[in-house]
Amino acid sequence: MMRPDDELCLCFHVTRRKVEQYLRTQRPAVASQLSECYGAGTGCGWCRPFLKRLHQQILGEAGDAGEESGTGGVTEGGREEAREQADFPEPDRYAQAREAYRESLRQSPNLQASESGNGPTASPERP
Ligand code: FES
Repeated sequence: MMRPDDELCLCFHVTRRKVEQYLRTQRPAVASQLSECYGAGTGCGWCRPFLKRLHQQILGEAGDAGEESGTGGVTEGGREEAREQADFPEPDRYAQAREAYRESLRQSPNLQASESGNGPTASPERP
């Protein structure tokens, strides 16, 4: 389970707490604005889906929260905390998955290059 002090963006060492703090205080309209939060998400890109998820969890459901029923006895805060943590992997697994992700980027550099907007420069690979 990822804790608040675990790094969400490993490239820029941005902890989950920092991201949540930013979301709560700055309330950015889109998750990509988290780049203003110590550069979160602007490195390898691995953490972006998680930033998005956190953005959605903290801000996205604020307006039209669908109340789950049948969870009697749990406090508002406690339940929210549980839901926020539910989707985040163990820090070890998270870091390992990021390594795999970065490795896959290394193996297909065209993926990264095409992001610059110049169009993919496909070079057929022969064994
Ligand atoms: S882990 Fe956040 S950009 Fe690489």
